[in-house]
Amino acid sequence: MTDFSSVKGKVAIVTGAADGLGKAIAQCYAENGVKVVVSDIHAEKGLKVVEELDANGGEAAFFQTDVSKEDEVKRLVDFAVKTYGRLDGLVNNAGIAADNRPVHEYSTAEFEKVMAVDLKGVFLGMKFAVEAILKSRSAGGFIINIASLAGLLGNSSMSLYASAKHGVVGLTKSAALDYAPYNITVNAICPGTFKTSIWGQAPEETISEYAKIFSPNGRLGDPKEIGHLALFLASDLARYISGSAISIDAGSSAGKITPVQWAHPEILD
Ligand SMILES: NC(=O)c1ccc[n+]([C@@H]2O[C@H](COP(=O)([O-])OP(=O)(O)OC[C@H]3O[C@@H](n4cnc5c(N)ncnc54)[C@H](O)[C@@H]3O)[C@@H](O)[C@H]2O)c1
Repeated sequence: MTDFSSVKGKVAIVTGAADGLGKAIAQCYAENGVKVVVSDIHAEKGLKVVEELDANGGEAAFFQTDVSKEDEVKRLVDFAVKTYGRLDGLVNNAGIAADNRPVHEYSTAEFEKVMAVDLKGVFLGMKFAVEAILKSRSAGGFIINIASLAGLLGNSSMSLYASAKHGVVGLTKSAALDYAPYNITVNAICPGTFKTSIWGQAPEETISEYAKIFSPNGRLGDPKEIGHLALFLASDLARYISGSAISIDAGSSAGKITPVQWAHPEILD
C-alpha cells in the first residue's frame, strides 16, 4: 500500500505560511506529522496559524521573516535547526504580485520590490536551507519553490511577476542538478488560479465569472490541492522527481482552448 508516512518527523520551513497557499501547505504538513516552522512577515497571523496547527495535534513553531532580507532568512534557518535539531525541507512560498500594468508603466522601484520578494527571497531560502539540510544528513531532503503559471507562460500586464516566477523556475532546475548527487530534490509548483485571500471580499458570482475565464474546468483551485502536491513532493514517494516545474492549473498551461460544439451531448444525459 502506498502511504505518506515517510514525511512523519521531517522538519520543514514554509515561508508566507500565515495565509493562502502557504497556510494550506503548513496545515497539510502538520496533519501528516511534519514538524513545521511557520514563517511570515506578519507575526500575528502567523502565530495564529501555529495555534491552530498545535490545537489539531500538529507540531509547529513561528518565526517572523521578511524573505527579501538576507540576515532574517539566515536567522529563520538557524531557528528551525535550533528548535527541532535538524532541517529536511523548505517550501519557498512567500510571494507578492505587482499591480497589473504594461512594462513601460512600471517603476524601477516596483521591479526591485517584486524581484526582492519573489526571486531573491527564493534564492536566499535555498542558499541557507540547503546547507542546513546537508548538515542534517537528511535522507529525504527537499526544496519546493512556489512559482506560478506565470513562471511558464508570459502574462499580459504582469511582466514583473512573470519575470520573477520564470526566474524561480530557472533557479529550481539549476539547483536540482547541483544537489541531485546529495539527495536533495528541488522542484517548483506552478499554480494556476487559486481561491486565496485575494478573493476574500469578492461575491460568489464574481469568483465564478473569473473562474470561467481563468480555469478550463470552470472553478478556482482549492489551496488544499496545493497542500496535497507539496505533501507528495516532501514524501519519499517522490525521491525520483527533481528539477520539475509541476503545473497545477486544471490544464491552463497545456495550450489554447478553441471553443467547439460538443459532438454527442446525449453522452452527458
Ligand atoms: N493564489 C494563486 O492563485 C496563486 C497562483 C500562482 C502562484 N501563486 C503563488 O503562491 C504563493 C502564495 O500566494 P497566495 O495566493 O497564497 O498569497 P497570499 O497573499 O494569500 O499569501 C502570501 C503570504 O506571504 C506573506 N508574505 C508576503 N511578503 C512576504 C515577505 N516579504 N516575507 C515573508 N512573507 C511574506 C504574506 O504575509 C502572506 O501571508 C506566492 O508565491 C504566489 O505568487 C499564487
